[in-house]
Amino acid sequence: MGINFLSFGSALPEGVVTNDDLSHMVETNDEWIYTRTGIKQRHVAITENTVSLGIYAAEKAINKAGIDKNEIDLVVCATITPDTSFPSTAGMVRQNIGLRDIPALDVCGVACAGFIYAASVAQGLMTTGSYKTALVIGAETLSKITDWSDRSSCILFGDGAGAAILRKGDGNGIITYELDGINDVDEYLICRYPESESPFYKGEHVEYTKMKMNGNKVFTFGINSVISGVTEMLSRSGLTSDDIKWIVPHQANYRIISSAAHRLNIPVEKFYVNIDHVGNTSSASIPIALDEMTDKGLVQKGDKIILVGFGGGLAAGSMLIEL
Ligand code: UT7
Repeated sequence: MGINFLSFGSALPEGVVTNDDLSHMVETNDEWIYTRTGIKQRHVAITENTVSLGIYAAEKAINKAGIDKNEIDLVVCATITPDTSFPSTAGMVRQNIGLRDIPALDVCGVACAGFIYAASVAQGLMTTGSYKTALVIGAETLSKITDWSDRSSCILFGDGAGAAILRKGDGNGIITYELDGINDVDEYLICRYPESESPFYKGEHVEYTKMKMNGNKVFTFGINSVISGVTEMLSRSGLTSDDIKWIVPHQANYRIISSAAHRLNIPVEKFYVNIDHVGNTSSASIPIALDEMTDKGLVQKGDKIILVGFGGGLAAGSMLIEL
């Protein structure tokens, strides 16, 4: 008995911002962005929000799975950019696509590792509880917390959502996973809520509520996370990289991916890369990539795939799955 991935879905907002567009907003250029990150363009919400992107991605995943939506009995959504503190993004998706009255919860604060965390939470609930079919989502509108005047970070991020249908049944499905976190005492990657408006509050004054990142520190954390995640998944399973069809890393920077591939001595071609046209979409990046891969026919049933996410938290997670 395993927890299997039946299908994936994704959604990107209609708005597209190219590197040239950004060069009119901050002092940068296409050549710098592309050579330092691998990004050519990113999608940004014009009318969409986190819930609507989550809905589109979820509907596509449900259609691709060929299931009746009433079979879904659990929704877990990873996001660091919810539209509301509550209801949860997962609950809003549940309501808008007309699912039954089932548990729906968000996994927040683990940023780009979010999809791995959300899938792990779903796996745990399905294994110990009575849930059979879960909708797992990563949905973000990072554009609303991006500092569009900071050229060292605004060039990276994009909006989007990805989703997966998980089902309990025969098959190996999620073979193993590892969730990691380290204390971000130096605040390498952080986004604060606005200051409390409580008339009683006398605490710290919050001046800055956009995403703040020490790119170099997070860059190193990213490379180390990919290396340790892949190494851990292989050693736990007794597999070698030859047994793995694809590695799907969080899309943060092409140089993180290529450097990790080089140090792991695994051909970079085994790493799926779509950062050129979507940028860094945080918790949505891995399921968006998986949806693209299935649409392009790049994966078949029985393929083993390693997923690795890393980012704000600081949080990281890796997962070995068999389709
Ligand atoms: O999702 C997980 C979280 N995020 C990440 O994983 C991001 C990880 N970090 C990165 O991807 C990279 O560190 C960045 C892309 C953010 C920055 O690339 P870098 O190669 O580390 O550049 P740098 O910060 O070391 O800056 C090098 C130079 C600096 O100029 P000086 O001081 O050498 O004169 C920067 O001011 O490049 C300058 N620079 C830019 N120039 C043109 C920084 N951003 C830009 C820009 N355009 N957009």
